[in-house]
Amino acid sequence: MAESIQLTAPNNVTYTQPTGLFINNEFVPAQSGETLTTVNPFDESIIAAVASAGTDDVDLAVAAAREAFQAPEWRSMGASERGLLLCRLADLCERDQEILATIDAWDNGKPYDSALNEDVAEVISVFRYYGGWADKIQGRTIETSDAKLAYTRHEPVGVCGQIIPWNYPAMMAAWKLGPALACGNTVVLKAAEQTPLSILYLATLVKEAGFPKGVVNVLNGSGTVAGAAIAGHLGVDKIAFTGSTPTGKAIMKAAANNLKAITLETGGKSPLLVFEDANLDQAVKWSHVGIMSNMGQICTATSRIYVQDSIYDTFVEKFKQYTIENSKVGSQFDPAVNHGPQVSKTQRDRILQYVESAKSEGAELVLGGGVPQAGDKGYFIEPTIFKDTNREMKAVREEVFGPFVVIQAFNSQEDAIKKANDTEFGLGAAVFTENITRGHKVAAAIEAGMVWINSSQDSHFAIPFGGYKQSGIGRELGEYALSAYTQVKAVHVNLGSWL
Ligand code: NAI
Ligand code: MG
Repeated sequence: MAESIQLTAPNNVTYTQPTGLFINNEFVPAQSGETLTTVNPFDESIIAAVASAGTDDVDLAVAAAREAFQAPEWRSMGASERGLLLCRLADLCERDQEILATIDAWDNGKPYDSALNEDVAEVISVFRYYGGWADKIQGRTIETSDAKLAYTRHEPVGVCGQIIPWNYPAMMAAWKLGPALACGNTVVLKAAEQTPLSILYLATLVKEAGFPKGVVNVLNGSGTVAGAAIAGHLGVDKIAFTGSTPTGKAIMKAAANNLKAITLETGGKSPLLVFEDANLDQAVKWSHVGIMSNMGQICTATSRIYVQDSIYDTFVEKFKQYTIENSKVGSQFDPAVNHGPQVSKTQRDRILQYVESAKSEGAELVLGGGVPQAGDKGYFIEPTIFKDTNREMKAVREEVFGPFVVIQAFNSQEDAIKKANDTEFGLGAAVFTENITRGHKVAAAIEAGMVWINSSQDSHFAIPFGGYKQSGIGRELGEYALSAYTQVKAVHVNLGSWL
Protein backbone atom coordinates (compact mmCIF):
# COMPACT_ATOMS: atom_id res chain seq x y z
CA MET A 1 0.00 0.00 0.00
CA ALA A 2 1.29 3.46 -0.87
CA GLU A 3 1.66 5.65 2.21
CA SER A 4 -0.26 8.58 0.75
CA ILE A 5 -2.96 9.29 -1.83
CA GLN A 6 -4.33 12.37 -3.57
CA LEU A 7 -7.92 13.08 -2.59
CA THR A 8 -10.52 15.55 -3.78
CA ALA A 9 -13.29 16.19 -1.28
CA PRO A 10 -16.92 16.95 -2.22
CA ASN A 11 -16.14 20.68 -1.74
CA ASN A 12 -13.34 20.34 -4.36
CA VAL A 13 -10.50 20.73 -1.88
CA THR A 14 -7.62 18.58 -3.16
CA TYR A 15 -4.85 17.45 -0.85
CA THR A 16 -2.38 14.67 -0.09
CA GLN A 17 -3.78 12.25 2.46
CA PRO A 18 -1.22 10.10 4.30
CA THR A 19 -2.45 6.55 4.82
CA GLY A 20 0.33 4.91 6.83
CA LEU A 21 1.21 4.78 10.49
CA PHE A 22 3.29 7.77 11.62
CA ILE A 23 6.28 6.44 13.56
CA ASN A 24 9.62 8.26 13.99
CA ASN A 25 8.40 11.07 11.71
CA GLU A 26 7.80 8.69 8.78
CA PHE A 27 4.65 7.17 7.35
CA VAL A 28 5.06 3.40 7.27
CA PRO A 29 2.78 0.48 6.40
CA ALA A 30 1.39 -1.61 9.25
CA GLN A 31 3.37 -4.75 10.11
CA SER A 32 -0.03 -6.35 10.57
CA GLY A 33 -0.80 -5.71 6.88
CA GLU A 34 -4.28 -4.66 8.02
CA THR A 35 -6.19 -1.60 6.87
CA LEU A 36 -9.34 0.10 7.96
CA THR A 37 -11.74 1.86 5.62
CA THR A 38 -13.54 5.08 6.38
CA VAL A 39 -16.70 6.43 4.79
CA ASN A 40 -18.48 9.72 4.28
CA PRO A 41 -21.54 9.35 6.54
CA PHE A 42 -23.56 11.63 4.23
CA ASP A 43 -23.70 9.16 1.32
CA GLU A 44 -21.84 6.09 2.67
CA SER A 45 -19.16 6.42 -0.04
CA ILE A 46 -15.69 5.13 0.79
CA ILE A 47 -13.12 7.90 1.33
CA ALA A 48 -9.94 5.92 1.93
CA ALA A 49 -8.30 2.88 3.49
CA VAL A 50 -5.53 3.52 6.01
CA ALA A 51 -3.02 1.31 7.80
CA SER A 52 -4.44 -0.29 10.93
CA ALA A 53 -1.96 -1.01 13.71
CA GLY A 54 -1.54 -4.41 15.29
CA THR A 55 0.25 -5.04 18.57
CA ASP A 56 3.67 -5.20 16.83
CA ASP A 57 3.06 -1.75 15.41
CA VAL A 58 2.14 -0.46 18.86
CA ASP A 59 5.44 -1.91 20.16
CA LEU A 60 7.34 -0.02 17.45
CA ALA A 61 5.55 3.25 18.16
CA VAL A 62 6.11 2.94 21.92
CA ALA A 63 9.81 2.14 21.36
CA ALA A 64 10.12 5.21 19.13
CA ALA A 65 8.46 7.38 21.77
CA ARG A 66 10.71 5.96 24.52
CA GLU A 67 13.86 6.61 22.52
CA ALA A 68 12.72 10.13 21.70
CA PHE A 69 11.93 10.77 25.37
CA GLN A 70 15.52 9.93 26.30
CA ALA A 71 17.21 11.56 23.31
CA PRO A 72 18.92 14.93 23.96
CA GLU A 73 17.18 16.48 20.90
CA TRP A 74 13.98 16.53 22.97
CA ARG A 75 15.01 16.04 26.58
CA SER A 76 17.59 18.81 26.54
CA MET A 77 15.71 21.14 24.25
CA GLY A 78 15.11 24.51 25.91
CA ALA A 79 11.58 24.99 27.18
CA SER A 80 11.12 28.13 25.07
CA GLU A 81 12.16 26.24 21.95
CA ARG A 82 9.62 23.52 22.77
CA GLY A 83 7.02 26.27 23.03
CA LEU A 84 8.07 27.67 19.68
CA LEU A 85 7.57 24.28 18.04
CA LEU A 86 3.99 24.23 19.32
CA CYS A 87 3.45 27.78 18.06
CA ARG A 88 4.85 26.77 14.68
CA LEU A 89 2.46 23.81 14.64
CA ALA A 90 -0.38 26.27 15.36
CA ASP A 91 0.74 28.42 12.41
CA LEU A 92 0.81 25.39 10.09
CA CYS A 93 -2.69 24.35 11.22
CA GLU A 94 -3.80 27.90 10.46
CA ARG A 95 -2.17 27.78 7.02
CA ASP A 96 -3.94 24.47 6.27
CA GLN A 97 -7.15 25.15 8.19
CA GLU A 98 -9.36 24.59 5.16
CA ILE A 99 -7.79 21.19 4.51
CA LEU A 100 -8.13 20.11 8.14
CA ALA A 101 -11.75 21.31 8.28
CA THR A 102 -12.54 19.59 4.98
CA ILE A 103 -11.14 16.28 6.23
CA ASP A 104 -13.08 16.30 9.50
CA ALA A 105 -16.31 17.42 7.81
CA TRP A 106 -15.94 14.69 5.18
CA ASP A 107 -14.94 11.90 7.53
CA ASN A 108 -17.22 12.75 10.46
CA GLY A 109 -20.26 14.35 8.76
CA LYS A 110 -20.14 17.60 10.75
CA PRO A 111 -21.02 20.83 8.91
CA TYR A 112 -17.94 22.33 7.26
CA ASP A 113 -18.49 25.74 8.87
CA SER A 114 -18.40 24.22 12.36
CA ALA A 115 -15.36 22.13 11.46
CA LEU A 116 -13.56 25.30 10.34
CA ASN A 117 -14.76 27.90 12.83
CA GLU A 118 -15.13 25.71 15.90
CA ASP A 119 -12.95 22.58 15.66
CA VAL A 120 -9.97 23.83 13.68
CA ALA A 121 -10.06 27.31 15.22
CA GLU A 122 -9.79 25.56 18.59
CA VAL A 123 -6.93 23.34 17.38
CA ILE A 124 -4.93 26.45 16.46
CA SER A 125 -5.73 28.22 19.75
CA VAL A 126 -4.87 25.19 21.87
CA PHE A 127 -1.46 24.69 20.27
CA ARG A 128 -0.67 28.40 20.69
CA TYR A 129 -1.91 28.44 24.26
CA TYR A 130 0.25 25.47 25.30
CA GLY A 131 3.14 26.86 23.27
CA GLY A 132 2.95 29.77 25.68
CA TRP A 133 2.97 27.48 28.73
CA ALA A 134 6.06 25.46 27.77
CA ASP A 135 8.54 27.85 29.43
CA LYS A 136 6.30 28.68 32.38
CA ILE A 137 6.21 25.24 33.98
CA GLN A 138 7.92 25.79 37.31
CA GLY A 139 8.56 24.03 40.56
CA ARG A 140 8.76 25.74 43.95
CA THR A 141 11.18 26.23 46.78
CA ILE A 142 9.68 25.19 50.10
CA GLU A 143 10.74 26.79 53.38
CA THR A 144 11.36 24.37 56.25
CA SER A 145 14.46 25.38 58.26
CA ASP A 146 17.89 26.91 57.83
CA ALA A 147 19.31 23.41 57.67
CA LYS A 148 17.54 22.51 54.47
CA LEU A 149 16.98 23.73 50.96
CA ALA A 150 14.00 21.98 49.43
CA TYR A 151 12.64 22.47 45.97
CA THR A 152 10.39 20.71 43.48
CA ARG A 153 10.89 19.99 39.80
CA HIS A 154 7.87 19.50 37.55
CA GLU A 155 9.15 16.81 35.22
CA PRO A 156 7.41 15.18 32.24
CA VAL A 157 5.71 11.84 32.92
CA GLY A 158 7.32 10.04 29.94
CA VAL A 159 5.61 8.17 27.12
CA CYS A 160 1.94 9.12 26.94
CA GLY A 161 -0.65 6.91 25.23
CA GLN A 162 -3.54 9.04 24.00
CA ILE A 163 -6.75 7.50 22.70
CA ILE A 164 -9.29 9.83 21.13
CA PRO A 165 -12.86 9.60 19.81
CA TRP A 166 -14.51 10.54 16.52
CA ASN A 167 -16.78 13.43 17.51
CA TYR A 168 -14.07 16.14 17.36
CA PRO A 169 -11.14 14.32 15.76
CA ALA A 170 -8.52 17.06 15.23
CA MET A 171 -9.66 19.00 18.28
CA MET A 172 -9.39 16.04 20.64
CA ALA A 173 -5.89 15.40 19.28
CA ALA A 174 -4.94 19.03 20.03
CA TRP A 175 -6.40 18.95 23.56
CA LYS A 176 -4.15 15.98 24.28
CA LEU A 177 -1.01 16.82 22.30
CA GLY A 178 -0.82 20.47 23.44
CA PRO A 179 -0.23 19.95 27.18
CA ALA A 180 1.70 16.68 26.71
CA LEU A 181 4.25 18.34 24.42
CA ALA A 182 4.41 21.61 26.37
CA CYS A 183 5.51 19.56 29.39
CA GLY A 184 8.16 17.63 27.42
CA ASN A 185 6.50 14.22 27.10
CA THR A 186 6.43 12.00 24.02
CA VAL A 187 3.24 10.56 22.60
CA VAL A 188 1.63 7.58 20.91
CA LEU A 189 -1.78 8.78 19.80
CA LYS A 190 -4.55 6.60 18.38
CA ALA A 191 -7.52 8.07 16.51
CA ALA A 192 -10.97 6.50 16.36
CA GLU A 193 -11.83 3.96 13.64
CA GLN A 194 -14.60 6.19 12.20
CA THR A 195 -12.34 9.24 11.67
CA PRO A 196 -8.74 8.21 10.95
CA LEU A 197 -7.83 10.90 8.42
CA SER A 198 -7.29 14.33 9.98
CA ILE A 199 -4.89 13.01 12.58
CA LEU A 200 -2.62 11.66 9.82
CA TYR A 201 -2.67 15.02 8.08
CA LEU A 202 -1.86 16.69 11.40
CA ALA A 203 1.13 14.34 11.68
CA THR A 204 2.60 15.82 8.48
CA LEU A 205 2.41 19.24 10.14
CA VAL A 206 4.09 17.93 13.30
CA LYS A 207 7.02 16.88 11.17
CA GLU A 208 7.05 20.13 9.20
CA ALA A 209 6.99 22.14 12.44
CA GLY A 210 10.29 20.50 13.35
CA PHE A 211 9.50 18.16 16.25
CA PRO A 212 12.30 15.60 16.61
CA LYS A 213 11.51 12.10 15.38
CA GLY A 214 9.57 9.87 17.74
CA VAL A 215 8.17 12.72 19.85
CA VAL A 216 4.73 12.31 18.27
CA ASN A 217 3.66 8.94 16.84
CA VAL A 218 0.22 8.48 15.34
CA LEU A 219 -1.60 5.21 14.82
CA ASN A 220 -4.96 4.21 13.53
CA GLY A 221 -6.43 0.88 14.46
CA SER A 222 -9.22 -0.84 16.29
CA GLY A 223 -9.91 -0.04 19.91
CA THR A 224 -9.80 -3.63 21.04
CA VAL A 225 -6.45 -4.31 19.33
CA ALA A 226 -4.35 -1.14 19.02
CA GLY A 227 -6.19 0.81 21.75
CA ALA A 228 -6.00 -2.06 24.22
CA ALA A 229 -2.32 -2.65 23.37
CA ILE A 230 -1.51 1.00 24.19
CA ALA A 231 -3.54 0.95 27.40
CA GLY A 232 -1.81 -2.22 28.63
CA HIS A 233 1.70 -1.51 27.33
CA LEU A 234 4.47 -1.71 29.93
CA GLY A 235 6.43 0.93 28.01
CA VAL A 236 3.68 3.53 28.37
CA ASP A 237 3.75 5.76 31.48
CA LYS A 238 0.45 7.58 31.15
CA ILE A 239 -2.88 7.12 29.41
CA ALA A 240 -5.24 9.89 28.39
CA PHE A 241 -8.60 8.84 26.95
CA THR A 242 -11.79 10.43 25.70
CA GLY A 243 -14.74 8.22 24.84
CA SER A 244 -17.41 6.06 26.44
CA THR A 245 -17.54 5.22 30.13
CA PRO A 246 -17.41 1.41 29.58
CA THR A 247 -14.27 1.78 27.42
CA GLY A 248 -12.82 4.16 30.03
CA LYS A 249 -13.28 1.44 32.65
CA ALA A 250 -11.60 -1.17 30.41
CA ILE A 251 -8.68 1.20 29.85
CA MET A 252 -8.34 1.87 33.56
CA LYS A 253 -8.13 -1.87 34.23
CA ALA A 254 -5.56 -2.40 31.48
CA ALA A 255 -3.52 0.56 32.74
CA ALA A 256 -3.24 -0.98 36.20
CA ASN A 257 -0.50 -3.41 35.11
CA ASN A 258 2.25 -0.81 35.59
CA LEU A 259 0.20 1.72 37.52
CA LYS A 260 0.01 4.21 34.65
CA ALA A 261 -1.01 7.76 35.40
CA ILE A 262 -4.45 8.18 33.94
CA THR A 263 -6.86 10.86 32.79
CA LEU A 264 -10.27 9.92 31.46
CA GLU A 265 -12.96 12.05 29.88
CA THR A 266 -15.96 9.80 29.46
CA GLY A 267 -19.71 9.91 29.04
CA GLY A 268 -22.29 12.42 30.17
CA LYS A 269 -25.99 13.01 30.65
CA SER A 270 -25.82 16.68 31.43
CA PRO A 271 -28.89 18.46 32.84
CA LEU A 272 -30.20 21.87 31.78
CA LEU A 273 -32.46 23.57 34.33
CA VAL A 274 -34.94 26.28 33.34
CA PHE A 275 -36.35 28.23 36.29
CA GLU A 276 -39.54 30.28 35.99
CA ASP A 277 -37.51 33.49 36.34
CA ALA A 278 -35.32 32.64 33.30
CA ASN A 279 -35.11 34.64 30.10
CA LEU A 280 -37.17 32.09 28.17
CA ASP A 281 -35.90 32.97 24.69
CA GLN A 282 -32.32 32.51 25.84
CA ALA A 283 -33.17 29.23 27.54
CA VAL A 284 -34.84 27.96 24.36
CA LYS A 285 -31.95 29.02 22.13
CA TRP A 286 -29.28 27.43 24.34
CA SER A 287 -31.34 24.29 24.88
CA HIS A 288 -31.21 23.84 21.11
CA VAL A 289 -27.46 24.54 20.88
CA GLY A 290 -26.86 22.27 23.87
CA ILE A 291 -28.29 19.13 22.29
CA MET A 292 -28.52 19.63 18.52
CA SER A 293 -24.99 20.98 17.83
CA ASN A 294 -22.65 18.41 16.30
CA MET A 295 -25.82 16.28 15.91
CA GLY A 296 -25.80 15.71 19.66
CA GLN A 297 -22.48 13.91 19.52
CA ILE A 298 -20.97 15.89 22.38
CA CYS A 299 -19.96 14.40 25.72
CA THR A 300 -21.24 17.55 27.48
CA ALA A 301 -24.51 17.76 25.49
CA THR A 302 -27.31 19.00 27.75
CA SER A 303 -29.49 15.97 27.04
CA ARG A 304 -31.84 16.18 30.05
CA ILE A 305 -33.95 19.35 30.25
CA TYR A 306 -35.83 20.13 33.47
CA VAL A 307 -38.35 22.98 33.40
CA GLN A 308 -40.22 24.57 36.29
CA ASP A 309 -43.84 23.37 36.13
CA SER A 310 -45.31 26.91 35.83
CA ILE A 311 -43.59 27.44 32.44
CA TYR A 312 -43.30 23.83 31.28
CA ASP A 313 -45.90 23.86 28.49
CA THR A 314 -44.79 27.25 27.17
CA PHE A 315 -41.15 26.14 27.11
CA VAL A 316 -41.87 22.86 25.33
CA GLU A 317 -43.86 24.61 22.61
CA LYS A 318 -41.26 27.34 22.07
CA PHE A 319 -38.41 24.84 22.05
CA LYS A 320 -40.22 22.70 19.50
CA GLN A 321 -40.86 25.70 17.21
CA TYR A 322 -37.29 26.94 17.56
CA THR A 323 -35.93 23.50 16.70
CA ILE A 324 -38.15 23.21 13.63
CA GLU A 325 -37.05 26.66 12.41
CA ASN A 326 -33.35 26.27 13.18
CA SER A 327 -32.44 22.73 12.19
CA LYS A 328 -31.33 22.59 8.55
CA VAL A 329 -30.68 18.96 7.68
CA GLY A 330 -28.47 17.95 4.73
CA SER A 331 -24.94 17.63 3.39
CA GLN A 332 -22.13 18.79 5.66
CA PHE A 333 -20.75 20.80 2.72
CA ASP A 334 -23.96 22.77 2.07
CA PRO A 335 -23.46 26.19 3.73
CA ALA A 336 -27.17 26.37 4.60
CA VAL A 337 -26.99 23.13 6.61
CA ASN A 338 -26.29 22.97 10.35
CA HIS A 339 -27.38 19.37 10.90
CA GLY A 340 -25.44 16.65 9.08
CA PRO A 341 -25.52 12.87 9.44
CA GLN A 342 -24.48 10.94 12.55
CA VAL A 343 -20.96 9.56 12.27
CA SER A 344 -21.86 5.95 11.49
CA LYS A 345 -24.65 3.48 10.92
CA THR A 346 -23.94 1.96 14.34
CA GLN A 347 -24.49 5.32 16.05
CA ARG A 348 -27.60 6.05 13.98
CA ASP A 349 -29.13 2.67 14.80
CA ARG A 350 -28.26 3.06 18.44
CA ILE A 351 -30.18 6.33 18.62
CA LEU A 352 -33.19 4.78 16.86
CA GLN A 353 -33.24 2.10 19.56
CA TYR A 354 -33.46 4.82 22.21
CA VAL A 355 -36.40 6.34 20.30
CA GLU A 356 -38.20 2.99 20.46
CA SER A 357 -37.35 2.49 24.10
CA ALA A 358 -38.53 5.99 25.11
CA LYS A 359 -41.83 5.40 23.28
CA SER A 360 -42.34 1.99 24.82
CA GLU A 361 -41.64 3.35 28.30
CA GLY A 362 -44.36 5.98 27.88
CA ALA A 363 -42.49 9.19 27.00
CA GLU A 364 -44.39 11.55 24.69
CA LEU A 365 -42.71 12.33 21.36
CA VAL A 366 -42.82 16.08 20.68
CA LEU A 367 -40.67 16.19 17.54
CA GLY A 368 -38.67 13.95 15.20
CA GLY A 369 -37.83 10.40 16.18
CA GLY A 370 -37.15 9.19 12.67
CA VAL A 371 -34.85 9.27 9.71
CA PRO A 372 -35.26 12.42 7.57
CA GLN A 373 -35.15 12.41 3.79
CA ALA A 374 -31.85 14.20 3.20
CA GLY A 375 -30.80 11.99 0.31
CA ASP A 376 -31.08 8.31 -0.60
CA LYS A 377 -28.37 7.35 1.80
CA GLY A 378 -26.60 8.64 4.89
CA TYR A 379 -26.89 8.15 8.63
CA PHE A 380 -29.39 10.88 9.44
CA ILE A 381 -31.54 11.31 12.52
CA GLU A 382 -34.20 13.98 12.90
CA PRO A 383 -33.83 16.40 15.80
CA THR A 384 -35.78 14.48 18.43
CA ILE A 385 -37.58 15.79 21.51
CA PHE A 386 -39.42 13.74 24.15
CA LYS A 387 -41.42 15.21 27.03
CA ASP A 388 -43.09 13.82 30.15
CA THR A 389 -40.17 11.51 30.79
CA ASN A 390 -39.15 10.10 34.17
CA ARG A 391 -36.07 8.86 36.01
CA GLU A 392 -36.78 5.17 35.38
CA MET A 393 -36.57 5.45 31.59
CA LYS A 394 -33.52 4.06 29.82
CA ALA A 395 -33.35 7.14 27.58
CA VAL A 396 -33.21 9.33 30.69
CA ARG A 397 -30.49 7.33 32.42
CA GLU A 398 -28.13 6.45 29.55
CA GLU A 399 -26.00 8.55 27.22
CA VAL A 400 -27.71 8.55 23.78
CA PHE A 401 -25.12 10.67 21.93
CA GLY A 402 -27.47 12.01 19.32
CA PRO A 403 -29.85 14.92 18.61
CA PHE A 404 -32.16 13.45 21.23
CA VAL A 405 -33.41 15.22 24.34
CA VAL A 406 -35.72 14.29 27.21
CA ILE A 407 -37.76 16.91 29.06
CA GLN A 408 -39.49 16.76 32.42
CA ALA A 409 -40.91 19.21 34.96
CA PHE A 410 -39.70 20.21 38.44
CA ASN A 411 -41.55 22.10 41.14
CA SER A 412 -38.87 23.78 43.31
CA GLN A 413 -35.18 24.65 43.40
CA GLU A 414 -34.56 21.70 45.67
CA ASP A 415 -36.42 19.35 43.33
CA ALA A 416 -34.45 20.73 40.35
CA ILE A 417 -31.09 20.07 42.04
CA LYS A 418 -32.16 16.59 43.11
CA LYS A 419 -33.23 15.70 39.58
CA ALA A 420 -30.09 17.22 38.03
CA ASN A 421 -27.86 15.11 40.29
CA ASP A 422 -29.86 11.93 39.82
CA THR A 423 -27.33 10.37 37.42
CA GLU A 424 -24.13 8.38 37.49
CA PHE A 425 -22.53 11.05 35.27
CA GLY A 426 -21.25 14.51 36.18
CA LEU A 427 -19.79 16.30 33.19
CA GLY A 428 -21.70 19.52 32.48
CA ALA A 429 -24.84 21.29 33.71
CA ALA A 430 -26.70 24.42 32.63
CA VAL A 431 -28.86 26.70 34.78
CA PHE A 432 -31.21 29.35 33.40
CA THR A 433 -32.28 32.02 35.84
CA GLU A 434 -32.15 35.81 36.09
CA ASN A 435 -31.66 35.54 39.87
CA ILE A 436 -27.93 35.73 40.52
CA THR A 437 -28.12 34.24 44.00
CA ARG A 438 -30.01 31.24 42.70
CA GLY A 439 -27.60 30.86 39.76
CA HIS A 440 -24.53 30.59 41.99
CA LYS A 441 -26.23 28.47 44.67
CA VAL A 442 -27.46 25.95 42.12
CA ALA A 443 -24.03 25.94 40.40
CA ALA A 444 -22.44 25.04 43.73
CA ALA A 445 -24.97 22.29 44.46
CA ILE A 446 -24.63 20.51 41.13
CA GLU A 447 -22.26 17.55 40.91
CA ALA A 448 -20.53 18.33 37.61
CA GLY A 449 -17.16 19.43 36.34
CA MET A 450 -18.58 22.38 34.39
CA VAL A 451 -21.64 24.53 35.08
CA TRP A 452 -22.97 27.06 32.61
CA ILE A 453 -25.15 29.84 33.96
CA ASN A 454 -27.39 31.07 31.12
CA SER A 455 -25.61 29.17 28.33
CA SER A 456 -24.67 25.62 27.33
CA GLN A 457 -21.50 24.06 25.87
CA ASP A 458 -19.43 27.14 26.60
CA SER A 459 -15.78 26.08 26.50
CA HIS A 460 -12.44 27.85 26.34
CA PHE A 461 -8.92 26.50 26.04
CA ALA A 462 -7.82 28.36 29.19
CA ILE A 463 -10.61 26.89 31.33
CA PRO A 464 -10.45 23.35 32.77
CA PHE A 465 -12.68 20.68 31.26
CA GLY A 466 -13.57 17.36 32.85
CA GLY A 467 -16.03 15.37 34.87
CA TYR A 468 -17.26 14.36 38.31
CA LYS A 469 -18.50 10.84 39.08
CA GLN A 470 -18.39 8.44 36.12
CA SER A 471 -17.72 11.25 33.64
CA GLY A 472 -14.01 11.05 34.20
CA ILE A 473 -10.81 11.55 36.11
CA GLY A 474 -8.60 14.63 35.85
CA ARG A 475 -8.90 17.82 33.83
CA GLU A 476 -7.95 18.84 30.32
CA LEU A 477 -7.30 22.39 29.08
CA GLY A 478 -6.05 25.40 30.97
CA GLU A 479 -3.22 25.38 33.46
CA TYR A 480 -4.91 22.43 35.20
CA ALA A 481 -4.00 20.11 32.32
CA LEU A 482 -0.30 20.64 33.03
CA SER A 483 -0.58 18.67 36.26
CA ALA A 484 -1.84 15.69 34.25
CA TYR A 485 1.34 15.72 32.16
CA THR A 486 3.96 16.41 34.84
CA GLN A 487 5.15 14.58 37.90
CA VAL A 488 6.65 16.33 40.88
CA LYS A 489 10.10 15.52 42.18
CA ALA A 490 11.08 16.86 45.61
CA VAL A 491 14.79 17.58 46.10
CA HIS A 492 16.12 17.84 49.66
CA VAL A 493 19.48 19.62 50.04
CA ASN A 494 21.33 19.23 53.34
CA LEU A 495 22.80 22.66 54.05
CA GLY A 496 25.32 21.22 56.49
CA SER A 497 23.67 21.49 59.86
CA TRP A 498 22.82 17.77 59.91
CA LEU A 499 25.83 15.50 60.07
P1 NAI B 1 -15.43 4.12 22.48
O1 NAI B 1 -15.24 4.74 23.81
O2 NAI B 1 -15.45 2.64 22.45
O3 NAI B 1 -14.26 4.63 21.50
C1 NAI B 1 -13.46 5.75 21.74
C2 NAI B 1 -11.99 5.43 21.46
O4 NAI B 1 -11.57 4.35 22.29
C3 NAI B 1 -11.72 4.97 20.02
O5 NAI B 1 -10.44 5.46 19.62
C4 NAI B 1 -11.66 3.45 20.16
O6 NAI B 1 -10.90 2.85 19.15
C5 NAI B 1 -11.00 3.30 21.51
N1 NAI B 1 -11.25 2.02 22.18
C6 NAI B 1 -12.36 1.23 22.10
N2 NAI B 1 -12.22 0.14 22.87
C7 NAI B 1 -11.00 0.22 23.45
C8 NAI B 1 -10.28 -0.61 24.38
N3 NAI B 1 -10.80 -1.73 24.85
N4 NAI B 1 -9.05 -0.21 24.76
C9 NAI B 1 -8.52 0.94 24.32
N5 NAI B 1 -9.15 1.76 23.44
C10 NAI B 1 -10.38 1.40 23.01
O7 NAI B 1 -16.75 4.75 21.87
P2 NAI B 1 -17.60 4.36 20.53
O8 NAI B 1 -17.79 2.90 20.45
O9 NAI B 1 -17.01 5.04 19.37
O10 NAI B 1 -18.99 5.05 20.87
C11 NAI B 1 -19.91 4.46 21.75
C12 NAI B 1 -20.50 5.48 22.68
O11 NAI B 1 -19.46 6.09 23.44
C13 NAI B 1 -21.20 6.66 22.02
O12 NAI B 1 -22.51 6.34 21.67
C14 NAI B 1 -21.12 7.67 23.11
O13 NAI B 1 -22.16 7.45 24.04
C15 NAI B 1 -19.81 7.41 23.78
N6 NAI B 1 -18.76 8.34 23.30
C16 NAI B 1 -18.42 9.39 24.09
C17 NAI B 1 -17.50 10.31 23.65
C18 NAI B 1 -17.11 11.47 24.47
O14 NAI B 1 -16.71 12.49 23.93
N7 NAI B 1 -17.16 11.38 25.79
C19 NAI B 1 -16.88 10.21 22.33
C20 NAI B 1 -17.24 9.01 21.60
C21 NAI B 1 -18.17 8.14 22.08
MG1 MG C 1 -15.66 8.42 8.43
